[in-house]
Amino acid sequence: MCGIVAYIGKREAYPILIKGLQRLEYRGYDSAGVALLQDGIEVYKKQGKVQDLLDHVGDRETSGNVGIGHTRWATHGKPNDINAHPHLSGNGRLAIIHNGIIENYAELKTILENDGHVFQSETDTEVLCHLIEELQNQMDEPIEEVVRVALTKVIGAYAIVIIDRDDPSKLIAARKASPLVIGIGKDEFFMASDASPIVEYTKNVVYLGDEEIAVVTLDGKMEIKTIDDQLQTPYIQELDLEIEALEKGGFDHYMLKEIYQQPSTIADAMRGRLLTEQSLIRLGGIEEYANRIVNADRIIIVACGTSWHSALIAEYLFEDLARVPVEVEYASEFRYRNPVITNKDVVIAISQSGETADTMAALELANQRGALTYGIVNVVGSSIARVTDAGSYIHAGPEIGVASTKAFTGQVTLLTMMALSIANKRGTLSKSYYQQLLQELEAIPDKIEAALALDPKIKYIAQEFKDSENALYLGRGYNFPVALEGALKLKEISYIHAEGYPAAEMKHGPIALIDENMPVVVIATNKSAYEKIASNIQEVKARKGRVIAVVTEGDRTISEIADYTIEIPETIEPLTPLLSVIPLQLLSYHIAVMRDCDVDQPRNLAKSVTVE
Ligand code: G6P
Repeated sequence: MCGIVAYIGKREAYPILIKGLQRLEYRGYDSAGVALLQDGIEVYKKQGKVQDLLDHVGDRETSGNVGIGHTRWATHGKPNDINAHPHLSGNGRLAIIHNGIIENYAELKTILENDGHVFQSETDTEVLCHLIEELQNQMDEPIEEVVRVALTKVIGAYAIVIIDRDDPSKLIAARKASPLVIGIGKDEFFMASDASPIVEYTKNVVYLGDEEIAVVTLDGKMEIKTIDDQLQTPYIQELDLEIEALEKGGFDHYMLKEIYQQPSTIADAMRGRLLTEQSLIRLGGIEEYANRIVNADRIIIVACGTSWHSALIAEYLFEDLARVPVEVEYASEFRYRNPVITNKDVVIAISQSGETADTMAALELANQRGALTYGIVNVVGSSIARVTDAGSYIHAGPEIGVASTKAFTGQVTLLTMMALSIANKRGTLSKSYYQQLLQELEAIPDKIEAALALDPKIKYIAQEFKDSENALYLGRGYNFPVALEGALKLKEISYIHAEGYPAAEMKHGPIALIDENMPVVVIATNKSAYEKIASNIQEVKARKGRVIAVVTEGDRTISEIADYTIEIPETIEPLTPLLSVIPLQLLSYHIAVMRDCDVDQPRNLAKSVTVE
């Protein structure tokens, strides 16, 4: 949540900051601002998007080689110009940008107010800035030392960058539980919440560690210390990211690009891992801990949002194929309910960003209680990838649309391979079924291509339903989590209220909502419960509901009763979610576009939720 970016070097900072903020806008877009070191510190900030900031700045003076920028997702204080970052110290000497939450800010604020500090905003960030100012007045130490001491008094999460007007040759950055990457150029440094603002200038980066402080200077020096004052040797890594991956590539929206990328992202997730001819799945993380994983008492999966829907599919996969008991938990509930975890458990965390605060906290709990922790993550080098014992990247590339699409199918692909690998090791599948599953999985990218070709029909259906106020999504078995995901996609980006339900549960409540205005999307590709789901559709039709059915190619029975059918290619039941979700992604996309919604940056949401 919130994106931060900073530059120090010989170039003009402002264009670098603005471009960086545009790349980070997915992290929050309530307000944006920059601070530039000129004769003093010049701050420009504005409620709204980066474009609103640009309009506000207009042709005002933006020169300067040192600057910081911020795009906000409001936590403390409503989104307005005053609460926008950067924030200044009372004496105007310091400017700060911050991603995270200072939990003891109220207590610190009272102490500072008693010492005469006056605050302009309602933010926790301004409190931190004044705390540093207060200590700077008391200590005869360089700014980095003052910041270090200030951070020992702070409880919470932060990634911060600070400019000191009276020490203009350096930037100070620090992080705890919020990401910060430092790009190293020739006598210049870039800092950002992720690598996307950095990659076009340099590929050499350092991921700042938890509770570390970095100082970078105009003459090209960098020093990293821990908050308890231990000097660190920076670990410089080369970015594996191309600039094209961050562009829309001819699509109207990132979300649409990401939907269409799925044949290749799924193939990337399987590359070198799915070895059909050798009847083998090779996942490094599993091989390393094979004994503990194969003999685990149970698998607990923690996640949030769309990743939680992947986890639900994994429950079906692991239990059905590998016969291991699975529990799926919302990370936010798990972490606070004193769960029973033992060292015979495997705890899997699923996260696109690898930064979700609740998922991180759930993992920390699992680590403390001795479980083996396994991360399924997209963003390379992210916090979750680093705190788990083992893991697998999904290799979907940057996902920029706030509504997750390719990360979801990447996660499901990875989880399917995990389930198959464990099943093979535990001997729970017949050789022929195992081999059939491998072959079918290999064919999924081509089948997704075929599902994407249904786009014109889906667009037509979207036109019919774009003015609905509610929608119901129903599915059974493997398609129940897909119903939840379809409903989530619709509400996230088109603001239509939608609910996902197991089809058979409809009669215990949602059926009361059905009338001629209620679109009911039924995912009905299951062979195992085909008659039952056909009956559910009859029940909806009997109450005048309008049914959009996702069925298997060649289906006749349901096609005759549903108002609209979308025929997707046939596959083996455990793999259906990878196909059945595609039309639902497209349906929500088109409806949102037709309703003139901001598809890539839906209101109130953010892509990376680094607060509780
Ligand atoms: C936010 C995003 C969702 C995402 C969820 C979990 O709500 O908008 O798209 O599914 O966070 O994020 P994660 O990065 O942990 O998968």
